Amino acid sequence: MAYVAFLNTKGGSGKSTLATNLVTWLARSDGGIALVDYDPQESAMAWLRRRPKGLPSIHGVSGKTNEIRNVRLYRLTEGLGVRNVVIDTPAAIPPTQLIYFCRDADKLIVPVTPSQIDIDVCARLIRNLHVYGGVKRGDGRVAVVANRVRRETIAFRQLERFLAVLEIPLVATIRDSQVYVACAAGGLGIADLPDAARQREELAWSGLIDWIRR
Ligand SMILES: Nc1ncnc2c1ncn2[C@@H]1O[C@H](COP(=O)(O)OP(=O)(O)OP(=O)(O)O)[C@@H](O)[C@H]1O
Ligand SMILES: [Mg+2]
Repeated sequence: MAYVAFLNTKGGSGKSTLATNLVTWLARSDGGIALVDYDPQESAMAWLRRRPKGLPSIHGVSGKTNEIRNVRLYRLTEGLGVRNVVIDTPAAIPPTQLIYFCRDADKLIVPVTPSQIDIDVCARLIRNLHVYGGVKRGDGRVAVVANRVRRETIAFRQLERFLAVLEIPLVATIRDSQVYVACAAGGLGIADLPDAARQREELAWSGLIDWIRR
């Protein structure tokens, strides 16, 4: 079993977009996948309700019924027979509550968009993961995904420079594309798209998927 949580206290960095897409890749390749939504806005649960029938199935688990501090992540999907669990989390988690998401997660993924504000928040979050989240330096649990990237921009170069000094791997770079917006609206992920569209994004996602499996 692997528990993968998307975390960033900055709203709009792409937690729900990346979580819903990751589950489609894992549903396609491995099956037995659960998507746990800990955001009271329930964007991931709403996405799952829009998901067309006939596609690889994903178990949805709403965090609404169990406050995270009172529940261990491994209890949430007991009896579902799943192999991988992906957790979407809210923005603005107080630092002292990070521990509840970190304590049982095998992998913690921080999506960051190329902007100075996001870089600043990301730096603070990573410090808080160590100080409050119980994450040990060098334990290999934390990675960054650069999201909404337009490569030939000053903002992306700033992000690359920031990540180069962080001792956290950048495991994927996801482009800014309407394909993500369209997928979100249709209850789809990139992995559900026809071959050509899926293959266009496959390389970008492979780094993240390989890192999770490691
Ligand atoms: N790679 C992308 N390309 C284009 N649009 C994107 C991409 N990733 C995310 N978006 C859009 O950016 C917005 C914010 O993304 P998302 O909702 O996934 O962020 P979030 O971190 O879950 O936000 P919140 O903290 O509010 O839950 C959404 O409208 C989404 O469609
Ligand atoms: Mg979200």
